[in-house]
Parts: sequence; structure tokens; C-alpha cells
Amino acid sequence: MRMVDIISKKRDGGELSREEINFFVEGYTHGTIPDYQASALAMAIYFQNMNDRETSDLTMAMASSGETIDLSEISGIKVDKHSTGGVGDTTTLVLAPLVASLGIPVAKMSGRGLGHTGGTIDKLESIDGFHVEIIKDKFIQLVNDNGIAVMGQTGNLTPADKKLYALRDVTGTVESIPLIASSIMSKKIAAGADAIVLDVKVGAGAFMKTDKDAEKLAHAMVRVGNSVGRNTMAVISDMSQPLGFAIGNALEVREAIDTLKGEGPVDLAELVLTLGSEMVVLAKKAGTLEEARKKLAESIKTGRALEKFRTFIKNQGGDPSIVDNPGKLPRAKYKIDVPALKDGVISNIAADEIGIAAMLLGAGRATKGDSIDLSVGLVLDKKVGDRVKKGDKLLTIHSNFQDVDEIKARIYENITIGSSAEKPVLIHKIITE
Ligand code: URA
Ligand code: CA
Repeated sequence: MRMVDIISKKRDGGELSREEINFFVEGYTHGTIPDYQASALAMAIYFQNMNDRETSDLTMAMASSGETIDLSEISGIKVDKHSTGGVGDTTTLVLAPLVASLGIPVAKMSGRGLGHTGGTIDKLESIDGFHVEIIKDKFIQLVNDNGIAVMGQTGNLTPADKKLYALRDVTGTVESIPLIASSIMSKKIAAGADAIVLDVKVGAGAFMKTDKDAEKLAHAMVRVGNSVGRNTMAVISDMSQPLGFAIGNALEVREAIDTLKGEGPVDLAELVLTLGSEMVVLAKKAGTLEEARKKLAESIKTGRALEKFRTFIKNQGGDPSIVDNPGKLPRAKYKIDVPALKDGVISNIAADEIGIAAMLLGAGRATKGDSIDLSVGLVLDKKVGDRVKKGDKLLTIHSNFQDVDEIKARIYENITIGSSAEKPVLIHKIITE
């Protein structure tokens, strides 16, 4: 087999066989196929697309290109949740202990944040002592004993995706549905999930800017998952404005604690219950979504979910007293209020640009390997659809430097006050096939 023939075939709109896809993935992983040929194929796929069978084969080839996690020592159905990335998306921090509190094993591999989107591991590390550098045996033991553990992505998971994603990033081939779907699903499958709930974000702060594209991606991922024996569904949720109020690592941990107490922002709480209900049904701990939702709400009300969060923190070396005393989380030196400059109704809070403002404060990384400041970020007081008077607080900047004029200007540019606006619909669609 020759790589040049595979490239030409896809360039001309042909369908690649499983053998051809495996030949490419293996050769590229081991370095016998060079970057220039891989980029030519990625570009051909970008223009000519892949059908479901090709996308599934590419997914499985990448999933088995490196280490895979065997979770069979954990009894029960392991349901994983994945978000395609958003701003202020605190969902996993709430969902993991909440779902675990119903006896569903949560064995989660998470990543760090990049650009305007945050990462679960960074957020958790704002808890003093908490760490995710645990070996696989310990990880499995923690899940078996306590029902929940989070570990960092091991270096050797899906090396084919690692190389290909980095290459796509610099060759204009990121925005391809089969390439995104296989990239995401290969990691979930290698990490051992039996069932997968996808949160596909749509809007300014998301990869997918339109419902049409978000639905296409969701369908592609759901079909891949189901065709390889992992029960998969997707929720398409709004990311036109940031989720909840807090954006920034320690600030989001605080928001997660509020939500586990039943005192969180309504959009975050609703998204948690929507995704959580799907997870509970997939794990067969409830027969219907209504029953699942009731159980989740009950666990928040009785404090069981919060108790599970405490145990989880303690087990991974963190200080569980932050749950009762969130003031112990890292705090920024300065709190600077940003007031509304006129009367009206908030009509837009551009999620991507607000995420970048938080990143510029130090909450996120511009490039991989940048260090971040866990204490800083933004806390919104108002969301789209809220009425404001001139002088009302729009949000608070939490910063460790005093001169935030540039960041303030960026914020003002990206929060629009108009004469009227509806609150955006949070759940756009549920995709099950
Ligand atoms: N996230 C991924 O992991 N891969 C992609 O290709 C896009 C987003
Ligand atoms: Ca948030």
C-alpha cells in the first residue's frame, strides 16, 4: 500500500477502506508516514468528507494507536461525559460527584484548558493539595471504594490523535466533522467508557457556531459511538454567553459547590440535571429521564452529592474543608467592579471574547505550557435578558494586577446593552441517533 494512492483516492472523492485507514494511522503514529502526507490527507478529508463507516474506522484506529484503559475491574456501567468546550463550563465539577452519589461509577480522565476554554483538571487543582497524578491501579481502586476518581490524561493515550490534532491545528484542517468526531470519540473509547453523554456546545464560545453544524457533529459522534458498541447520545447546549456566573478556576470551584448545595446559577443547574438524567438512564439507575431527574434533585437536597464531593477531594489529597469554607480557595488581590454605562436590557455577552478577557487576567493559557493563575477570573452579575440601570454592576474582575483598563475595554466591547432581549434557550436539541 502507498500513502500517495490513499491521498489521491480521497482527493477524488473515493471511500477509504478500513485497511487503508489503518495503514495511515499506524504509519503516521510510528513516523513512517511524514507530516506532509498526513496534512494532504487531512485536507482531502476536509473537502471530500468521510462517511459513517470511514469515520468509525478512523476512530477505532486512533483509539487503539496507544494505551487503552481497561475499566472492567470496576463493576457497573461506566458512563463518561464529554463537553466540546465552553466558557465558564463548570458542569463536570458538579456532575461527577452528583452522579457518583447515586452509585454510578465515575472514572474520569480529564484535560487542561487551552485558549478561551477552561479545563477540569486546572479547576480542581485550585483546591489545596488536590492532584490527578495517580497511577491506574490507584485510580481503579478509588472508583471501586468510593465511586469516583479523576486522573490526568496519560501521556500514551491515542498518540495518533495527539499528532494529527497538532498537525490539523497548523494546516487549516481542524474544522472537519469526521476529523473532530473521530478525535473526540477515539479518546473517550480509549479511556474505557461503556456509555457516553456528549455536551455539544453551540454559539460564539463554541467550536460550532451554528445549530446546523452542531447537529452534524453530534450526529456523527453519536453514530460512531453506537456503531462501536458504546451507547452514545448528545445534548446540544447554548454557548452564546458563558455558562453560569463564574469564569476562572477557583471561582468555578466555588460555583460548583454552590450548585451542589442547590444554590447555583439556574442555567448551570439545568444543564447539570439534563446531562445527569441522561447519564443515570444510560447507567440503568433509572427507567425514565423524569425518575432520574428526581433522584438527582433529591441527592442535592439531602446533601449526599456535596458529601460525595468532599470524599472525592479528600481521596485525591485535597483539603475538603473548602466545601464549608470556600474563602480558603485561592483569592485574587483586587476585585474591580464593572458597571453598566447605560439603562437597557443585556442583549449579548460574547462568550469567546469574555473567555479571552479571563485568559488575559491569567485564568487560561494562550499556548500549551503557559502557567495559569488559579485565583483570577470574572464573575458575572447579569446575563442575557436581564434589565440593567446605568451604574448597576455587570460583573466583577478578580485580578492580581491593578491596571485592568485593556481588559475592561474588551469587556465593554463584548457586552451589548439594547432595548430588549429574550433569555437564550439553553437546551437546543437532544440527539440520540
Ligand atoms: N477537540 C478535540 O479533541 N479534537 C478536535 O478535533 C476538536 C476538538
Ligand atoms: Ca461558570
